[in-house]
Amino acid sequence: MDVLEIKTPPGFFEMGSPKNLPCGGNCGDCAKAARRATDRAQPGGAPLSGKQSVHRGFRRFQFLTGILLVLSSGVGTYLLATDASLWLLAFSHAVGLMTIVALDLVLGLYSLASSKSAYLPSIAAAFLGFILQMGDVFTAPQYNMTISYFAHYLFGLWAFDLLLGLQLAVLIVGVIARPHALYLAKRRTRRGKELDYSKRGLLKAMGGIAGLIGIGVLLGSLKLTGPVQQGSQGSQSSATTATGAGAGSIAKVNNLQVGTPVLFEYPSGYPSALVKNQDGSLTAVSMLCTHVCCQLSYDAVSKVYYCPCHQSVFSLTGKVVRGPATTDLPTILLRVDGSGNVFPTGVSNPGPCQV
Ligand code: FES
Repeated sequence: MDVLEIKTPPGFFEMGSPKNLPCGGNCGDCAKAARRATDRAQPGGAPLSGKQSVHRGFRRFQFLTGILLVLSSGVGTYLLATDASLWLLAFSHAVGLMTIVALDLVLGLYSLASSKSAYLPSIAAAFLGFILQMGDVFTAPQYNMTISYFAHYLFGLWAFDLLLGLQLAVLIVGVIARPHALYLAKRRTRRGKELDYSKRGLLKAMGGIAGLIGIGVLLGSLKLTGPVQQGSQGSQSSATTATGAGAGSIAKVNNLQVGTPVLFEYPSGYPSALVKNQDGSLTAVSMLCTHVCCQLSYDAVSKVYYCPCHQSVFSLTGKVVRGPATTDLPTILLRVDGSGNVFPTGVSNPGPCQV
């Protein structure tokens, strides 16, 4: 089959109407060519050279990268400002995220200003940010949670998902812009050198960004060296610790005051509380909130357990009084010996905190 090939003379579309073509310039191919010519045209009407066109394309990609990074920084700030569990449960993660937020903001602004030297660090920051956020899920055991439960919580946060999405978008833009970056880098111009688009340049950028985030996480982890975190935020904790009890027991029944919890660990390292009820019966529950495993504190005024992370409230018998937690606290099974010593013997309904 013969194919009719229409060749447009150089500069044809820039010169005016395509009157001498069989289609009169109204076919799809002509429209596409006209659009391309318009895209490449300089403000004065002259077509751009290949080099100028690549520069312009690269600037657009870098501008988009800048917008995505600034947005990512805003979403990270929102997470830091609204999720107290980050600060109370995983302080080092909070400081790590703070570092990522600051880097995203600075690199985003530099990208918006078309600074070529910010290009590779921007890609490196997005890559490391994405990997670290995903890696957060695997730190769940450190906070007494199962990985699947923590993943369910994290991916259920729209801000966390958006943060991941924005960093992924920066990486995708980086892949699409790669031919432009390579073209610019191969030309030994000042801009090409500034861009430093090479394996060495990428490793340098990765190392620098990883070092900064590492310093942030390290500074944050210094705060973790201490006893198990205690709840705060307005709660009054006046629970007592066991006194006068026999070896291995939590307390002596006769020493317990009605409605005043005694704190103990069961199993070892897991905070729990024992309380004597009005009718003389005993109840012991885990003091790890069933929402995201923050440690509860005892509110002596309202006689409830309060979670400082997202403000859940539980009764002294472990029932949910206010969410977001939806599951009652795990109950510790007890045995009382002939001398009135109380011993923990097991957990009746283990929750998401591996108790
Ligand atoms: S950890 Fe979220 S309410 Fe307790």
